[in-house]
Amino acid sequence: MSERRAEAYWQAVALSVDIGKRPKRILFDGEPVVLFRSAQGIAALFDRCPHRLVELSTGKIVRGEIECPYHGWRYDGDGRCTAIPGHVGAVPHYRVRRFAALERDGVVFISSGTPRAEPYLHCMQGKDIIMRRVRSSTQSTVIDAAENILDATHTHFTHKGLLRGLTAKRHLVRVEVTGGEGWVEASYTGEDHQQGLISRLLEGERARTIGRFRHPGIAELEYWGKEGLVLATTFHLRQADERTVEGVGWLIGRRQGLLGELKALAFKPLFTIALHQDRRVLKSASDNARLPPQALPVIGPLDFLRRDIASIMEGRMPAAASEPRVHQIEL
Ligand code: FES
Ligand SMILES: [Fe+2]
Repeated sequence: MSERRAEAYWQAVALSVDIGKRPKRILFDGEPVVLFRSAQGIAALFDRCPHRLVELSTGKIVRGEIECPYHGWRYDGDGRCTAIPGHVGAVPHYRVRRFAALERDGVVFISSGTPRAEPYLHCMQGKDIIMRRVRSSTQSTVIDAAENILDATHTHFTHKGLLRGLTAKRHLVRVEVTGGEGWVEASYTGEDHQQGLISRLLEGERARTIGRFRHPGIAELEYWGKEGLVLATTFHLRQADERTVEGVGWLIGRRQGLLGELKALAFKPLFTIALHQDRRVLKSASDNARLPPQALPVIGPLDFLRRDIASIMEGRMPAAASEPRVHQIEL
């Protein structure tokens, strides 16, 4: 039960299109990292020149190596110093810490270890889909942001009209919570139609909605119709610094000819509005939480996933793995 996951894992940190001719700096659990395209492919180095500690990301890329803007020391994709301009003779062995990095499906992943497995991408991998990639930055924590994505009960208020109807009418819904090593999910059945704008434009009849959390910070929503998965989002979240969560995600729809293409066009702008509404409440909570006195959030009767998400993030088995739960709620 209390076995911990010690394995190294990948984290999505950027979209491939963001790494062009210039280096890009990100924060990775508070540490500065520079991403660039080296001769060996995508590279991720600690963003600090060992010489005088300048940000390498403010330098430039020269033939696949990153050049520090201060004295021009250069580093290859493995972090080895390859040139010290003006120095006569062999270059001494200096190096910058390097992170494992790879690109999959238009997204850059890095790791502070050496993961054995390929990174998980999204829940419709390998299917005939239309998708858009998105990026987000939110003032929050990974647990709060993930819970927000998966929490159905805030949609009536935060997203009134967009994800829910304008009336207060609710339906009795059955929620099954199940889990396993590194994941937990809530499956909602009984709400045959979600009255918000997004559902009316993009979906047919809804058979099931699933909200899932995966280690280390992946939140995904699936909307199932009578004939299978119709719409889905998979969001990879990570703590950039203490107050900032960065997200990289996929918005996915099943390909259904021209209609599918048209629907996909509407998905991203509507999603962007919902994201904006969520970022506003999360920022309010984050700002307010730091004012004294210190307080812990209440885990209410409808917050089905909170404790299990916390367990998974701490590398423990979620309680739902050994004890699946069933709830009835009005949604
Ligand atoms: S500080 Fe980077 S080369 Fe001197
Ligand atoms: Fe939301």
